[in-house]
Amino acid sequence: MGREPGLSVRLKLTLSYAGFLMVAGALLLAVVWVFLLRYVPEVITTPGPGAPGMPGMAIPDRADLQRAFVPKAAVALAFLLVLGLAGGWFLAGSMLAPLTRITNATRLAADGSLAHRVQLEGRADEFRELADAFDTMLARLEAHDAEQRRFAANASHELRTPLAITQALLDVARTDLGRDTGELVERLHFVNSRAIDLTEALLLLSRANQRSFAREPVDLSLAAEEAAETLLPLAEKHGVTLETGGEVATTTGSYVLLLQMTTNLVHNAIVHNLAGRGTVWVTTLVRPGAVLLTVENTGEPLSQPVASTLTEPFQRGTGRVRADHAGVGLGLAIVKSIAQAHGGTLTLAPRAAGGLRVTVHLPAAAR
Ligand SMILES: Nc1ncnc2c1ncn2[C@@H]1O[C@H](COP(=O)(O)OP(=O)(O)O)[C@@H](O)[C@H]1O
Ligand SMILES: [Mg+2]
Repeated sequence: MGREPGLSVRLKLTLSYAGFLMVAGALLLAVVWVFLLRYVPEVITTPGPGAPGMPGMAIPDRADLQRAFVPKAAVALAFLLVLGLAGGWFLAGSMLAPLTRITNATRLAADGSLAHRVQLEGRADEFRELADAFDTMLARLEAHDAEQRRFAANASHELRTPLAITQALLDVARTDLGRDTGELVERLHFVNSRAIDLTEALLLLSRANQRSFAREPVDLSLAAEEAAETLLPLAEKHGVTLETGGEVATTTGSYVLLLQMTTNLVHNAIVHNLAGRGTVWVTTLVRPGAVLLTVENTGEPLSQPVASTLTEPFQRGTGRVRADHAGVGLGLAIVKSIAQAHGGTLTLAPRAAGGLRVTVHLPAAAR
């Protein structure tokens, strides 16, 4: 941005420092002057020569005093001015030095180098606080930037996979024309629907991240009921028992997105469960100022470190993935984005007996 050049802060500080010193010096000299005046009468009435006790000595009058005092006072003021300017310049320079370092770090960050830190040393003061806050901001920006890059790389990789499989299938079909096309069409159809699922999940994720949706009161227990109803056939297919319950828990947001969030959680709880003998509990709760949605399921034991990485996009658990429920790996990333877009948080906790407990905290709707 082009701005009109102005006085530097260092110069302004120097001038005000010297100015104060001059005013203080002048006041002090004025006090001395007034004090001296009280002892020197304006006109000296000299007693006649030979008066008793008065030898012929010259007694200074005000004009003498002025002659003696004014040049010295002027020299003192000039000295104060030089001292004020030089000292002020030096002091302001050393006070403002940290600011220069912060400005340099800002310029580097603006040029895209997020790895640089101000790392101001010394005790806590206002500049140190600013520098530390700036370093924290840079660290978060850097982490966010790295996350975005990872996401873009993973997303491109995931999108390339179905395209590469399609290409391979078509190549085989081209060289082997006598082959059964029914099977080819079937496999192409499967690969293509996976690609569509992935693209739709990516679109959903970006929609949740944009946070540009209409907000209305949403009862989470209704969303939980609807998700459970939709996924009941899937649960039956997997031999998983689905239990829903809880209180009316109203938050503010988009019903469609919150339903999607609940559906993803219940879907995960069904497919990443013990086949044939698993259970899923979906509960809604009201807490002061907040509403909670908890989806808990039986399953293989999980460790806390593994559980906390599962919300990363394209992060899939270590267990074998069966073809019939291989997800695109964005389910929990979408849940997290939707929760955050609604001002909430997502917590994943492994259950001691195996399986996972997922809790979404959302702000309660204002009455
Ligand atoms: N309820 C759950 N119980 C156990 N593991 C889970 C649960 N939900 C998610 N996971 C693990 O987290 C991984 C990521 O989940 P998600 O983001 O929904 O991707 P996807 O389901 O497509 O694999 C899953 O692959 C699974 O290993
Ligand atoms: Mg999933």
